[in-house]
Amino acid sequence: MSGNRNHFLKDLLRTEDLSRADVELVLATARDFADEPLKSASALAHKSVAIYMTKPSTRTRLASETAVAHLGGTPIFLRGDELQIGRGETIEDTARIVSQFCSALIIRTYAQSDVDQLGAHASIPVINALTDEDHPTQLLADWMVIREKFGKDISGRKLVYVGDGNNVANSWLLMGAIMGAHVIAATPSGKFAVAPEVIAKAQEIASASGGKVESTNDAKAACEGASVIYTDVWMSMGDSESERAEKFKALSPFAVDEKLMSLTAKDSIFMHCLPAHRGEEVATTVIDGEKSVVWREAFHRRTTIQALLYLLTRGELKGN
Ligand code: CP
Ligand code: NVA
Repeated sequence: MSGNRNHFLKDLLRTEDLSRADVELVLATARDFADEPLKSASALAHKSVAIYMTKPSTRTRLASETAVAHLGGTPIFLRGDELQIGRGETIEDTARIVSQFCSALIIRTYAQSDVDQLGAHASIPVINALTDEDHPTQLLADWMVIREKFGKDISGRKLVYVGDGNNVANSWLLMGAIMGAHVIAATPSGKFAVAPEVIAKAQEIASASGGKVESTNDAKAACEGASVIYTDVWMSMGDSESERAEKFKALSPFAVDEKLMSLTAKDSIFMHCLPAHRGEEVATTVIDGEKSVVWREAFHRRTTIQALLYLLTRGELKGN
């Protein structure tokens, strides 16, 4: 998987590549970059970072390009259809070429296996900026906000994801497990649930970290007394439009509205990675209400990607 595990973590390909110590270091470094954005303004001076995306992006692209700029480097944005990879050049050859010109590669695409393959063949750090299975950089920003709101001691707190068992749900459980948290995914049963192998992986991590990972089909029970309610869109990029009606029907009991929020703890927060679809997965009054921290999550996309780039290009993350 990621680089030479005895010495350092070369890439961030999957959420579970990160150890608790790595996450703590990213959060501390991101805190510095939040307080002082230009603290390491020459770390990537005269260097370039490729940002390659085959899916749309607003936040991750802006956060990545500005993070590179804040470190003194030049971002090179590459669309999927602009590279020879779109005409059949192999991932392996593309990885070799990008490695000759750039200091890191940030990639957003469909198949996790493509990202894994890029990591295996690139000599530079490769950062997963979302696949169909995972969204690790999002979770780093989310944990900055959880820290800001609740501090380091989260014992006794329930952190609940409600909605589609998608890439963000996977990352939510895995990162929560790494952080020793009590995380729950409340999803429909069947094909819109979190995959059993992801739950098993998260539970394995939690058994070592002191965390607790649960899944349920009962949104109300999950939200009872919860400190965090997190949701995401019901139709992800790459989801088949032919499933929309079936999916919305299965997910309608999982819409986050005032009633669901009224079951949560007094100091609870509402989180969403964005983009949001008001009136679908979340009510307007909730996402635009006083418990919502969605703009702070978006803010920390830049600070955390800046921290990741800084640390990975210096070989300062260790992995598991
Ligand atoms: N949250 C997130 O990844 O947003 P974008 O799709 O706009 O990058
Ligand atoms: N689950 C969503 C997240 C977008 C940031 C998607 O993959 O489209």
